[in-house]
Amino acid sequence: MTDVRIGVIGGGLMGRELAGVCGRWDLLVDHPSRPRLVAVADPAPAAREWFARLDSVQTLAHDWRALIEDDGIDVLYIAVPHQLHEEIYVAAAAAGRDFLAEKPFGIDLGSSARIMDALASSTSFVRVSSEFPYYPGAQRAYAYAASGALGDILDVRAGFWHSSDLNRSKPINWKRRAETCGEIGVMGDLGLHVAHVPLRLGWQPTSVYGRLDDVVQARPGPDGATVECDTWDNALLVLGAHPQAGGRDFTMLWETRRIAPGHVNTWFLEAVGMDGGVRFSTRQPTVLRRFGVRDGEQTWEEVQPGNISAWPVVSGAIFEFGFSDALLQMWACYLAERAGELGDRFGTATPAEAFASHRVFDAALRSWRDGVPAVP
Ligand SMILES: NC(=O)c1ccc[n+]([C@@H]2O[C@H](COP(=O)([O-])OP(=O)(O)OC[C@H]3O[C@@H](n4cnc5c(N)ncnc54)[C@H](O)[C@@H]3O)[C@@H](O)[C@H]2O)c1
Repeated sequence: MTDVRIGVIGGGLMGRELAGVCGRWDLLVDHPSRPRLVAVADPAPAAREWFARLDSVQTLAHDWRALIEDDGIDVLYIAVPHQLHEEIYVAAAAAGRDFLAEKPFGIDLGSSARIMDALASSTSFVRVSSEFPYYPGAQRAYAYAASGALGDILDVRAGFWHSSDLNRSKPINWKRRAETCGEIGVMGDLGLHVAHVPLRLGWQPTSVYGRLDDVVQARPGPDGATVECDTWDNALLVLGAHPQAGGRDFTMLWETRRIAPGHVNTWFLEAVGMDGGVRFSTRQPTVLRRFGVRDGEQTWEEVQPGNISAWPVVSGAIFEFGFSDALLQMWACYLAERAGELGDRFGTATPAEAFASHRVFDAALRSWRDGVPAVP
């Protein structure tokens, strides 16, 4: 294994998750790289202090520029609020730094386009975080759809639902303000998770009708006084989609909801065609459902995908897989791809896929404003 020295810019929720990924790395079998979390940049002292517990961390900086300039760092993980994506990603690209970006990859379509421009003249190896497709059931669903087993596609439904905003008294944070989360609101928070697999399957959005909902319009601010909460909480996008392999357009729904009562963290993908169908949800992660006509009967069968992951692991093939495993797999595939050893495994989201998702979210905003479908 070659050591890969990682610097984290933004030591919040996701930055801390990387510490867990590094700690569990020995579960992977014959991986070419070993990540070491060596540096953290965050202006918040408490965020920096959390990382002092890790023996590997040598640098705790308040300014992200210190990490971009540090030649002792091989890879950056940039996990900051959305209004900071463009400045930091463009600077990392200009310095030729490899990095794993966070979604939505720029606060809006224009910002994402400027990041893409910066990458076009950069040597940086860049991918965008999207871990849910690494659930074994999601991997099997992807492989089944990619094999052509669906036949003529009829309907696709991809979604990510949670309910962390069900409580109206929950204090506001940067993810609930358009200024820092983006005008696209929940689509910026959850949308790439939903878009990644459909885009990878070559299902190209041709038209978008967006149904957007700002359910909770005010929340307690830092001092308890009520402040405006001006982002979309829930979004339902009705897309026309064209299969890359050719054929007729079909209907695809992308659903992102921060307020889906009864759901804690549900990512799902369903796709049905004339010959086959597939359904997977993290709500029942041990089960994959497949449709086919068997002996003249229309049959949905249940398959248990077990713990067979994109990158092999030492843990038992029958054990349950969870969010931390998905993150480990995503990082394993990001670093393997960087090392040129991904093979035919599933790579994490590309900048082009993140940009394509932004085109859809931007069209959804226009469509909701104008009351008609919009072209991405
Ligand atoms: N892949 C996923 O499942 C997933 C989940 C949650 C969030 N995210 C994404 O990760 C990113 C960060 O989200 P989070 O939930 O970790 O947020 P967070 O608020 O928990 O953490 C963000 C951190 O960035 C720091 N920060 C603010 N300004 C900074 C600056 N100028 N330089 C360096 N650090 C700065 C904050 O102090 C904070 O510690 C966002 O893009 C978000 O969409 C991804």
